[in-house]
Amino acid sequence: MEQRAFSRLAVSAAAALLALTTACTGGTVQGRPGASGLRDPYFPKAGNGGYRVDHYALDLDYDPADGQLHGTAVITARAEQGLSSFNLDFSGLKVEEVTVQGAGARYNRTGNELTVRPAEDLKKGEVFVTEVDYAGKPKTLVDPDQSKEGWITTGKDGAVGVGEPVGSMTWFPGNHHPSDKAAYDITITVPKGYEAVSNGELRTRTDLADGRTEFAWHSPEPMASYLATAVIGRYKVTTGRTPSGVALYTAVAPGEAAASAAPLARLPEMVEWGSGRFGPYPFGTAGAVVLPAGTLAYALETQTKPVFSGAPEEDELVLHELAHQWFGNSVSPKSWKDMWLNEGFAVYAEWLWAEDHGGPTAQQHFDAFLAGDTEVDDHADSDWDAFPPADPPGPEDISGNPVYYRGAMVLHRVRQEVGDEKFFALLRGWAADHRHANASTADFTAYAQEKTGHDLRKVWDVWLYGKARPR
Ligand code: ARG
Ligand code: ZN
Repeated sequence: MEQRAFSRLAVSAAAALLALTTACTGGTVQGRPGASGLRDPYFPKAGNGGYRVDHYALDLDYDPADGQLHGTAVITARAEQGLSSFNLDFSGLKVEEVTVQGAGARYNRTGNELTVRPAEDLKKGEVFVTEVDYAGKPKTLVDPDQSKEGWITTGKDGAVGVGEPVGSMTWFPGNHHPSDKAAYDITITVPKGYEAVSNGELRTRTDLADGRTEFAWHSPEPMASYLATAVIGRYKVTTGRTPSGVALYTAVAPGEAAASAAPLARLPEMVEWGSGRFGPYPFGTAGAVVLPAGTLAYALETQTKPVFSGAPEEDELVLHELAHQWFGNSVSPKSWKDMWLNEGFAVYAEWLWAEDHGGPTAQQHFDAFLAGDTEVDDHADSDWDAFPPADPPGPEDISGNPVYYRGAMVLHRVRQEVGDEKFFALLRGWAADHRHANASTADFTAYAQEKTGHDLRKVWDVWLYGKARPR
């Protein structure tokens, strides 16, 4: 009895081993579900695990008359594990069909998660193509800080899609976390007479037989999905080049054209100035979109085409969004906790621009904040000291004043410690060594110490992480 039982066990163990060997070497792979979020400290469900995206091809067809969007997203990604299913972040709209590697895939939706179950499990390392067809009226999101993002209608017959931090999921499915950057081709079709603007270079503009116009925009450099934009409406378009040859494209709402002329005229000079201060402009194209006034509560550094809500009232705002092209867009945050690497740097760029153009020096800006002196800066008596820039208390604070102003003050403190020569080498080195990549606050503090050879721990303790108002 015992003997027979033992041998039966031995036989089944051998069969199991054989089956396992077949699974590893043969056609069948055993995938598991990819994670539904990347556990960002502020937006834990943003992004997804198990794959990284190389390229998005978005085909967007928009009808301003009824606000309906028809979209096709073709997403080329690489599996980082065997996948039985994976998620895309997607909010609202109706999914019509999903295919993976050309074969129909099952899917279901919970909250902002679209879970896709391919017909065949995906192998680790496999490059796979997912197509999602979708339609509907895209929605506007209200962020934790009460500002609007996502899809927003403009004027009487236009719209804009923006996405900081998570609004891009209202107009295309994707891996919506800044740690997964990809190249994009965004094609937008609109009725004749409308313009459609997106990131990168306008490759073709085609009048179709059915009376509509197709705009094909190409962004070869990696882009975080929160920096994607689509702008549809009646705009005045101007093209040009900076003195060093960067292609420029600006689209301005007709009602804002007069007021926008002066600030936008300085864009070529600003691109050149930034290249001198921070190193080569990171993208093939530059530009701006001026939306009808009142569309958004803020300007946004959408890649290569920052959007302004109404004419920029100050040159510094144009400069701020341009500076993000180096800091935020080329060097992108690893998580939403690292926002001061975007905003602190962009504000400091404003201070440097002022310093180089007959305005207050960065030292004067720094002193004005310490003193609450609004003669030099309107924001100097704001709550710039309410929390440490590297540690916003909650998701509603990631765009709060301390991230911007105390963030800039961190950089000025570093400059005071190491001197101008090392400080400007640090800014250029940071942009060069993390070009088109992602970085965290810890990456920056380590880099700054190594690059300058200074022990900066006191600066980090007091200015970056310190809860109390620095003195
Ligand atoms: N990143 C933008 C800028 O400073 C501002 C975005 C503000 N967003 C928000 N939800 N409050 O250029
Ligand atoms: Zn900013």
